[in-house]
Amino acid sequence: MNDIFTNCKLKNGFGPSVQATAAATSPTKRPLSPDHPNPALPITETPSPAMNRMGWALRTLLVADNSSCLKDRKVSGKLIRKCAPGTELVDWLVNLSPIVHTRAQAAGMWQALLEEGVLAHVNKEQPFKDKCFLYRFRLDEEGGTAAAGVPQAEDLGAANEHIREALSALFQRGPDATLRMILRKPSHERTSEELELVFEELVHIAALSHLSTSIKRELSSIFVFEAHAQAGTILFNQGDEGRSWYILLKGSVDVVIHGKGTVATLKTGDDFGKLALINDAPRAATIVLKENNCHLLRVDKEHFNRILRDVEANTLRLQEHGKDVLVLERVAKQRGQHSAFKYTVMSGTPAKMLEHLLETRLGQSVGGMDPFLDDFLLTHIVFMPVVQLVDELANYFHCDAHEDAQTPEDREYIINFKKRVIQFMQKWVMAVRHAAFEEPSVCDFIEDLAAEVEADPDLNEETSIVHNVLTQMARYQEDRNQNAGQKWKLPPNGQPICLFSGNATPSKTVIRPDDDIIFRVYCADHTYCTLRFPMHTTAELIKACAADKLQLNRGPEDLVLVEVKSNGERSVFKDNDVSIPTGLSLNGRLFVSVKDHLDALTQLQEQECPTEGVDIDLEILSTKELAYHITLFEWDLFWAVHEYELLYHTFGRHHFGKITANLDVFLRRFNEVQYWIVTELVSTPSLSKRVGLVRKFIKLAAYCKEYQNLNAFFAVVMGLSNMAVSRLQQTWEKIPSKFRKIFQEFEALIDPSRNHRAYRVFVGKLQPPLIPFMPLLLKDMTFAHEGNKTSLDGLVNFEKMHMMAQTMRTIRFCRSRSLGLEPPSPKSEGEVRSYISSFRVIDNQRVLTAMSQKVEPTRKL
Ligand code: CMP
Repeated sequence: MNDIFTNCKLKNGFGPSVQATAAATSPTKRPLSPDHPNPALPITETPSPAMNRMGWALRTLLVADNSSCLKDRKVSGKLIRKCAPGTELVDWLVNLSPIVHTRAQAAGMWQALLEEGVLAHVNKEQPFKDKCFLYRFRLDEEGGTAAAGVPQAEDLGAANEHIREALSALFQRGPDATLRMILRKPSHERTSEELELVFEELVHIAALSHLSTSIKRELSSIFVFEAHAQAGTILFNQGDEGRSWYILLKGSVDVVIHGKGTVATLKTGDDFGKLALINDAPRAATIVLKENNCHLLRVDKEHFNRILRDVEANTLRLQEHGKDVLVLERVAKQRGQHSAFKYTVMSGTPAKMLEHLLETRLGQSVGGMDPFLDDFLLTHIVFMPVVQLVDELANYFHCDAHEDAQTPEDREYIINFKKRVIQFMQKWVMAVRHAAFEEPSVCDFIEDLAAEVEADPDLNEETSIVHNVLTQMARYQEDRNQNAGQKWKLPPNGQPICLFSGNATPSKTVIRPDDDIIFRVYCADHTYCTLRFPMHTTAELIKACAADKLQLNRGPEDLVLVEVKSNGERSVFKDNDVSIPTGLSLNGRLFVSVKDHLDALTQLQEQECPTEGVDIDLEILSTKELAYHITLFEWDLFWAVHEYELLYHTFGRHHFGKITANLDVFLRRFNEVQYWIVTELVSTPSLSKRVGLVRKFIKLAAYCKEYQNLNAFFAVVMGLSNMAVSRLQQTWEKIPSKFRKIFQEFEALIDPSRNHRAYRVFVGKLQPPLIPFMPLLLKDMTFAHEGNKTSLDGLVNFEKMHMMAQTMRTIRFCRSRSLGLEPPSPKSEGEVRSYISSFRVIDNQRVLTAMSQKVEPTRKL
């Protein structure tokens, strides 16, 4: 006894070295501190009725027991009423029931009572231990009638009966209570046996099933058990810094998002909080406990980064209202890449992706380059029309409109979000330039933003951003007004010509949707009418007008608008198709026809003849000057193409109702150059002149390559490789071997095998400015489009958007420096310029081959 007495002296904390910290406070009132859980304290605010009753029954039996285990003891001169050493409590319980076999089991059962506050260490400094620390019942701490005296026989009977029924329940709770106790101890206090116990338990947690044994072992020492007694407790707020990752062991939590409310409820076994840790971004949602007494396992950030960051599950799925809304995938950090983002978006709903973007890719904390924002800005038109995007942004910007009472934290959060919206706007305008200002909804929104930013002192720092955007918008509008009423003519042959433009540099004229274009529409008997329409006019309207003018007297449903190519091939336009005239092939003609009589359409005689062009003796023109002017001319055409046009072209412009006129013209140019080479060669009867021309064209290709005009380089080399040219044996025989060798190298460069590898390697080493081989970029777009679904299980397949954006970025890269070529000679002027702007071209392969035969008939063997 004395032994116990003295042994307990220090261990119970009554010695001078122990501070009398919170000992006086009742455990039920003491605020639980989840950050540093104390295994000596209860995890509930009040005991559950079952445990309360169990405690009462055990105490009743203990008090009545003549082993006098529970008695008043004097420790360091202080009287502690009805307390007992842990060892004796364990002895007593092992003796009490045959189901309790080991001391550890008994200790676990006492710990189960301790963690609900039914039992406590006298100084609240120890969890239950099979040692001589003193413990007492809550009833005795509180005093009162229940605590006093020897129990009545009636109580004894009731206690005995209760113990018989309920002891096995307590027995079962023991191991879990022990585990929780271990997990609330600081890691350095966990013994190796305890770590083994934890490890065995971790094996059963689904959220950890993908982790290796060694990681689970590491986790055994750093997992922290956290209990929260009250439903409604906020674990953390959206926008907070992420400090821990959690697994829900018991209970449920609501995931709440500003402006949306509860979007998901997570249940036992679910985990959360990884997103902010891995992305180093603010919390994407507030987590609120849905039930009383929720139990969680927690891994703090430093440990998470050390142990889990690089091995954590590859895919993260976020749900709202039971449906996936965002699927993220972990990306390996690449060398030299400073981006903090470890999760990349695989798929998602448009709105959730935008939310994720605003939360993680905008704001002060963001550094480094991450393509998600740029991908989104370049491709959103595929899955989120501009009007919807503006609507969503306006909602985010005005998220305070419906909240009257705002705490300072709320206000900070809201201001933060407003700033993000403003930054988004700025990046949007930078990424897509005038395409943003072409949308009235965007302009209205920018003006609203500007007004609000002016009026809100909290957004002072953002005024310069908004002013900058406003200035760009004003500049665009001014430019637009100047060029209003731009008019184009599509001559029966050749490129569209700008007839009127207020633009000071007419060559750099972008074709706009409301520019007019003048063009012809034929009918089956080759009579035609000339129409003038805005570029964005639909095929349906053109069809109706042409039918009317040509007096076809048929309803629009019986008619089609169709292109007849120079080889007689026909392709029918969809009614909702736009920018029709520029979409025609080089020598194509537009026809309106009765649906059933399509077969009767024949090409015009003139389609087989060369297009209009300047008649000039090519021989006298300097090849370098030709290459120079071709490059300048094509640079302007390339410059006018908007990245969006690639999307319109790939998905079909009718989906967007947007014109692709600038891209059309650029693509036509490729064919024009290619067929110009062929046309020139097959229409030159003199062998020596042909030889001279081939040499000139090989040199032309070399200069185009030197000027980094790969589009023209390809066109020239492809022209020279055309069947109608390659068969000109007599000509090629006379080409010096030096030239032939160069040409072979060029052919190797345009070789399409292994997905144009030779070209890709070559172009990959070039620095801007350069004009890329546009058809390959379109092929890449089509490949990405046809090989990947746009929507996966109702979510936008963002991987596909990323692939497409990569190609669109290539265009941006090529133009990221302006073209500043030195003119090859000071006199290089007008003549060459007008010559290269419209070549004489036949694009009918059959005609070209026939002409080739004529100049060099096939030799008879
Ligand atoms: P994190 O951003 O670190 O903190 C909030 C957590 O809520 C988040 O990580 C996700 O783990 C979790 N969560 C679950 N569903 C959603 C959801 N639909 N949107 C955002 N977060 C969610």
